Amino acid sequence: MMTRPEMIRVAGGTRLYGEVPVLGAKNAALKHMVAAMLAPGDHVLENVPSIADVATMGEVRAYAGATCRRDGTRLHIAVPEHPRPEAPLELVRKMRASILILGALLSRCGEARVALPGGDDFGSRPIDMHLDGLRDMGASFELKHGVLRAYAPDGLHGTEIYLEFPSVGATENLLLAAAMATGTTVISNAAREPELTDLAMYLNKMGAKIEGAGTSTITVHGVGSLASATHRVVPDRLEAGTYALAGAISGGEVRVLDCVPDHLRMELRKMEVAGCEVTFGADWIHVVGPDRPAPVDFATLPYPGFHTDMHPQMVAFLALADGTSIITENVYAARFRYVGELNRMGADISTDGQHVVVRGTDRLSGCEVDGCDIRAAAALVLAGLVAEGETCVVHAEHIDRGDAGYVEKMSALGARINRS
Ligand code: UD1
Repeated sequence: MMTRPEMIRVAGGTRLYGEVPVLGAKNAALKHMVAAMLAPGDHVLENVPSIADVATMGEVRAYAGATCRRDGTRLHIAVPEHPRPEAPLELVRKMRASILILGALLSRCGEARVALPGGDDFGSRPIDMHLDGLRDMGASFELKHGVLRAYAPDGLHGTEIYLEFPSVGATENLLLAAAMATGTTVISNAAREPELTDLAMYLNKMGAKIEGAGTSTITVHGVGSLASATHRVVPDRLEAGTYALAGAISGGEVRVLDCVPDHLRMELRKMEVAGCEVTFGADWIHVVGPDRPAPVDFATLPYPGFHTDMHPQMVAFLALADGTSIITENVYAARFRYVGELNRMGADISTDGQHVVVRGTDRLSGCEVDGCDIRAAAALVLAGLVAEGETCVVHAEHIDRGDAGYVEKMSALGARINRS
């Protein structure tokens, strides 16, 4: 049966004011749910957002035999002694992060059958680094009928792995595989993202011996077994950054609560250069938007560089700048589908290879636009906050994959927004 795409309607022209709390990071919670598979027993994850991707990961793990029960923002996870080493296509296709179950199942069961992943449409997103690293640890693979079959009948062993690029997913998969491998694994050129550091903290609470998470060299001393644990998921820096930009683009004043400003250093710096007044404390960020942003150039890079997942929202802001900004996308080959949609609203943006040239305009006008992925949809809503008339973002269900209560929180800040 065809289901009608979700639509978010935003009426432009309202400045946002007020406070908005953020929850735990999607990109951490999903990995923690997989990590729980490494130890039988009852785990508790706190500060878990109620988003579609968490529900999908719950299904992936249910297939492997683990159960989840939600109690507010707590997720109680029960992991069996003998998980089923499988993740089927209908689930994996929905969400690329499912591939992480590969390292966990290989480690727990000595084998895994995982359909190749789907996820956002940012050009081809290979998993060669995941597989090369696991192969170096003793795994072998065959791909049959779209299903990757992985084997490590004698278990995984520690080794030295040098990643070609600090891939978040590959580093996480290798961490999960290495936690219970025989001997020591050293991952060089590892990703340094805060969500990955948080994963290592959770694994260490479970009894793992991981050193150096948050730096480019991570050392994992394999242990024989892990035990269930309780962990609070690190705040979502993308949700925090998106609300900060919502305040900024509307020329309003927004305080984002329950976040870690240090995780958004580069993004906040660029917002300041664009004319925002930014102050912050230990767990809050206060942003006052300019009447009109100044142009800013930026390049997306692995952490602590400018986060690629904040790129579309920042471009929506700069679409209204008094001058031209140049953005270089270094993480994904194709993250530009949102550009045509912003242009439909009157923006003047062009792309050339990895570069985006944003010639600022002084007004946008509302129309129907396609929210083609999580961050694109969020960015188009931001543009809708300042566009003349009404903006209808179709396929807004993408937002539900990553952001719990986006419409409600925007509305609480004063946005004239609803879902239909
Ligand atoms: C994670 C985040 C995603 C974010 C990205 C970069 C989750 C669920 N998703 O995705 O929101 O945008 O980090 O911060 O946490 N690559 C390869 N070979 C590999 C692995 C990756 O070529 O084996 C490439 C990818 O195609 C991409 C780049 O490396 O171009 C970065 O990918 P990676 O860091 O692995 O991102 P994800 O973990 O998929």
